[in-house]
Order: sequence, then structure tokens, then C-alpha cells
Amino acid sequence: MMLTWPRALTRRALSLAFAILLGVSLAVAVHPGRADAAPGPTFRNPAVDVPNSGDPTLTYYNGYYYYVATTWSSDVVMRRARTISALRGAPEQVVVRTGGTTMWAPHLEMINNRWYLYYSVEQSGGARRTHVAESAGTDPLGPYTIRGILNLMPNNGWAIDAAILKLNGANYVMFSAFHPSDNLQSLYISPLTNPWTAGAFGTRISAPTLSWETQNGAVNEGAFALQRNGRTWITYSASHCNGPNYKLGMLEYRGGDPLAASSWTKAANPIFQRNDANGVYGPGHHSFFTSPDGTETWIAYHANSSASQGCGTTRTTRVQKISWNSDGTPNLGVPVSLSTVLPGPAGETGATPVEIRNRHSNLCLDDYNHVTTPGAEVRQWTCSTATVQDWYLTPLADGYYQISNRNSGLCLDNKDWGTAAGSPVQQWTCNGLAVQQWRTTDAGNGYVTLVNRHSGLCLDDYNWATAPGAEVRQWTCLNNNAQHWRIA
Ligand code: AHR
Repeated sequence: MMLTWPRALTRRALSLAFAILLGVSLAVAVHPGRADAAPGPTFRNPAVDVPNSGDPTLTYYNGYYYYVATTWSSDVVMRRARTISALRGAPEQVVVRTGGTTMWAPHLEMINNRWYLYYSVEQSGGARRTHVAESAGTDPLGPYTIRGILNLMPNNGWAIDAAILKLNGANYVMFSAFHPSDNLQSLYISPLTNPWTAGAFGTRISAPTLSWETQNGAVNEGAFALQRNGRTWITYSASHCNGPNYKLGMLEYRGGDPLAASSWTKAANPIFQRNDANGVYGPGHHSFFTSPDGTETWIAYHANSSASQGCGTTRTTRVQKISWNSDGTPNLGVPVSLSTVLPGPAGETGATPVEIRNRHSNLCLDDYNHVTTPGAEVRQWTCSTATVQDWYLTPLADGYYQISNRNSGLCLDNKDWGTAAGSPVQQWTCNGLAVQQWRTTDAGNGYVTLVNRHSGLCLDDYNWATAPGAEVRQWTCLNNNAQHWRIA
């Protein structure tokens, strides 16, 4: 979904709305000592892990993020989550059975109140071409009807990586194809007469001619439109995805016919590329999305964690916020390390952190010793407003929650899938599995119990301890004060 700069909403209104929503379901009040945290629950990349995690399109719509990516199968699969932190664990749903093979780079776009998926597949020996599916209504999850193949190149020619540009009141499709004159895999653009019909074959608007566009292979692909304050850019991937030097470049629209190469000016240098110090190689084939409160622009991209990896299923999806230069152009920064804990996009559900205080010990759930690596301990400590005691409750399906720590970006986890009374808990990379799903039951007087989905046991002030550092474990649910928690 191409990105345009929406009208900002008030963050406080969204945080208040969430507090009310959470209050209804959890008997929770926003803790008076905690400032409203505009950012969403903290997280660490990858936002989506292998295998279906290359060439991501991520968009936020009506309370959820919707995510599609290359599957190399015959299907387009989609996942959705209320927060970035919950995206990795969100279940995949098949939304289109393409009838082709090795589905690449699905692009999700709303046009005239319908969702469209543009993707490329190979079919019965013919060239790889771009297909279009249309949703029945406004639900990105579908159902979808396949509308056919976009006729983008002469002789039913090869065309991939379609994405939509909305400019001057018209819709265009950007895509990548080989130019017959020099066989360079270049960026093309075609007018759309409707979302599934090209009005003409594509015209080339960019060829990989600069040195940084020709490493491991000369390529321009993966275009995505970005618009802000009346300016329009086409950002795209350059060099070959089979190497660490895959990167992003940018064209700016200078007015005139968008189908003419002369209407576009190419930035002399890449805008986003490998960062060996952060262990990020081949960052590219991206999309942009807006934070839930409309105030932030984020990028979703794939990258490898080794310079020797390429275009296969090792590429994972990462997300991070972008900024804007003083001249109004986008500043994508550098790709962050996988160990970096990031605040989530502003306005996410569950964006207000809470404390989780035990009724018996009067101590608070705590990221013990401020550890940020998977396996970090969870204990109880004297309550404070420190971020190690800030927890985000992200609603999952059927009344369960993901509980993640603001300092570590990790999730409250039933360690080693225990089921016996006394089973320990820990903080682990958020994965959405049953061991990280917790439901609440009302215990009265503003307290709840927290029940683990896998063990069926309750979070418990182990051995009725009351000293800071007191252990937290799981125990058979007895509905006593050691198992009562005030979430506030
Ligand atoms: O990931 C499959 C294909 O490889 C994508 O369509 C393209 O952008 C990349 O080169």
C-alpha cells in the first residue's frame, strides 16, 4: 500500500481509548505513576522470522497490521496483529491460492474500498508474470477473487514486483522487467484503467546504471511509492538480492507525465544499505507504513544476517522508524541490529505500559537485573516507575494476551513448556506460542489471576515470599493472594 502522509490523530485519545477498552476486559486502570507512553510495546527485530519473510508488504488498517511476503509456494499467505511486537507470533492464513508456483513479492493496496494483491508467479512453463486478486469487501483477509494477469510487457513478457503509485488523481503500476535493448532489469511504470487492467505496456523510468546499482548483478526492482507534503518519491531496490550489497535507491517526481523517464530524477547515492557493524546485509525490497496514530513513518524491509546469504528463505523482515531531512526528503537511517530493543509505533493497542503488582508481596513483576537477552529472569521487586517494571499487554485471539517487557522487548514465557506446579517463567523472544499466551480471570477488588495457555497454571508469588528478588513461578490455580495480581 503506497504511503501518503495522513492527518495526525491525537495520541492521548488513542491511549485513553485503549485504557477504557482494557478496563472493560481486565479491570485495569492506567497506573497514575506512569506517563502515557506514545510508543507501542517494545520489540526486537526480526519482526517476522523465516521462512515467509522476504519482500514484505506491511500496512496498518482498522486496528491491525496486515503482512504479506514471498512464500515460494502457490499461495499468498497473510498474518495480522495489533502490535509489531505480536506480529512474529501471529498465525498465517492463506488468502489466495494462485494456481501458479513460487509466489514472489505480494503487494497489498486498497483502491476504491477494495483490497488488491499484486504478486508474481510462474505458470505452465510461461514467463513469470504479475497477477491480481481483489477482495470481496474491506477486510484485507478477504475473501479474494483472482482478477487475472496484468499485461505489462509485450509478448506476455516477464514482469515482477508490482506496486501501486497514486499520482495526479490516477493509478499507476510500477514493476520490474528486462529492457529488450540492453537486457537490464529496470523499473517500469504503466497506467491502470482499473486495478486489474494496464492501459498500456510499461515504459522504463530507471535502469541500473550507477555502480552501486550493479553489485552482484545490475538490478532495479521492488519499487514502493512514498508521498509527503506534495512530493512523490519512488524508492526501489538496487543491485542483486543474491549478495550483501542489495540496497535502496530513490527517484523523485519532478512533474509532467509520470510515464516519462524525464519526469523522474534519481538520487546519486543509495538511501539505505548494508551495515556490517550491526550485522545487517542486503537490506531491501521494502514497504512503508504509518504508525497507528498517524504521526510516524516506518519501513519494513528484508535483510540477511550474513554477507554470504542471498535471495532465499534466510531473509527476515525487520521494521524501524524513518525520519525526514531538513530538505523534506526521507531519511531511512541505517538498518538496526537484531539486538536493538525498539519502541513500537505510536498509538498501538497496548501502548500504555502497566505494572503487575502481587497482592501478597506488594512487589512488582520485574525484568530482573535489566537483562535483555532471551532467558532473562522475571522476579518481583519493590515497585517503581522503572522501565524494567513496565509491561505491555497485547491482545491476541480469544481473550489471551502477550505480556512483554518494555526494557527487554521480550515476552513472559512458560520456561521449557512446563506443566508441573512450580514450573518457572522467563523472558523469551516473543513468538506468539501458547507458552507466551496469558489469560486473566477476575479475582475481585481490582485483582486478576494470570493463567498460562500451555500449562493452565497460574502466575504465582512463589513460596509466599515478600522480599525484593522474590521468585515468580507457575502453580496450580488456587485463587489465593499469592496468585492475585493488580495490573495498573
Ligand atoms: O524474492 C523473490 C524475488 O527476488 C523478488 O520478487 C525480487 O524483488 C527479488 O529479486
